[in-house]
Amino acid sequence: MTATARTPAVTSRLPQVGTTIFTVMSALATQCGAVNLGQGFPDFDGDPRLMQAVKDALDAGHNQYPPMAGIPALRGAIAAKVEALYGHRYDPATEVTVTAGATQAIITAVLALVHPSDEVIVLDPCYDSYDPSIVLAGATAVHVPLTTGTFRPDFAAIATAIGPKTRAILVNTPHNPTGTVWTAAEQQQLADLLRPTDLLLLSDEVYEHMVYDGAAHLSVASHPELAARSVLISSFGKTYHVTGWKIGFVAAPAPLMAEFRKVHQFNVFTVNTPMQHALAAYMADPAPYLELGAFYQRKRDLFRAGLAGTGLRLLPCEGTYFQSVDYSGLAPEIASLGEAAFCEWLTREVGVAAIPLSAFYADGRDQQIARLCFAKRDETLALALDRLRVRLGEYTGKH
Ligand SMILES: Cc1ncc(COP(=O)(O)O)c(C=O)c1O
Repeated sequence: MTATARTPAVTSRLPQVGTTIFTVMSALATQCGAVNLGQGFPDFDGDPRLMQAVKDALDAGHNQYPPMAGIPALRGAIAAKVEALYGHRYDPATEVTVTAGATQAIITAVLALVHPSDEVIVLDPCYDSYDPSIVLAGATAVHVPLTTGTFRPDFAAIATAIGPKTRAILVNTPHNPTGTVWTAAEQQQLADLLRPTDLLLLSDEVYEHMVYDGAAHLSVASHPELAARSVLISSFGKTYHVTGWKIGFVAAPAPLMAEFRKVHQFNVFTVNTPMQHALAAYMADPAPYLELGAFYQRKRDLFRAGLAGTGLRLLPCEGTYFQSVDYSGLAPEIASLGEAAFCEWLTREVGVAAIPLSAFYADGRDQQIARLCFAKRDETLALALDRLRVRLGEYTGKH
């Protein structure tokens, strides 16, 4: 070792964060040749017309920095879509910004709108970026669990958590990981709760087009009172089967958006140009997002029907592409495993990778539930179901 080459020691800004369970389970799935129903992404491609639109944009020379907030055509298409679906008109000039996916949108919103020593309420289980985003802002995440068993919002608990330091509440519907979708009554209860406060609502709606059985997604944009205090966040990655593109958007009242853009311009500045042109052109046809619910509902039904004989208890799946299962009914040697151990066993011994629900809780609580992703080709789902039926059958007491 030379005297001059020395990497200084650093104190972690995020000491609690290690390798995520998603990375661990995906690596284990590859190592074991397991069907990966762990991480939430499709194993099929997006629409060839969208791919062609990207190639067209590249060939047309759309390869330099676009405007900081996104190209006007895409912001216009987003505003038109949100208005058509949810009834609220956001001004594309001042109230819509294109982001590098929803994850960037969330951390940017938090950094822009939350101050050190503020508190932000999150409802557990929740997407794993929420807590670190709040911590990096120097704020405190106040974790309020959803109701045990049903995973519905517990408004009494939320009300109790609101205090003088509370700046915002982060809500996600349709919900990852549990597949619940907020009802109109629940949305109204939130509006009633927030009315006397100055809280902001950060609304993660990335699964907005995956709602089943005739229910409707209740965007904050469909509720004028909530829209006035909300940052609406969505992602094209989920809607168009292109999670690797990392492109999404934020819509919010102009004063909130002005602050959002101040941070956005220094942590991203602009989002890649050809994808923006492609999406702006592709969005002219509403069919792909209007038909997404039916597309995934069919997969959900196929997957749930296949799981019926496995001994796993299925939790309701009202939206998203996640199906949670309760394994407490399996033979005691399996049912007694903690969620992480169960998912590892499932990956190694059954050949199907899943994610423990505990990974989405700040307190890591164990409820004998695992999350499976059904955004997969029918053949992939069939292979996973075959393995689950054969191997879990040995642990259901039926064999
Ligand atoms: C609830 C939720 N929010 C945000 C994201 C991130 O979306 P993006 O890939 O656009 O960053 C995900 C992705 O899994 C998610 O499940």
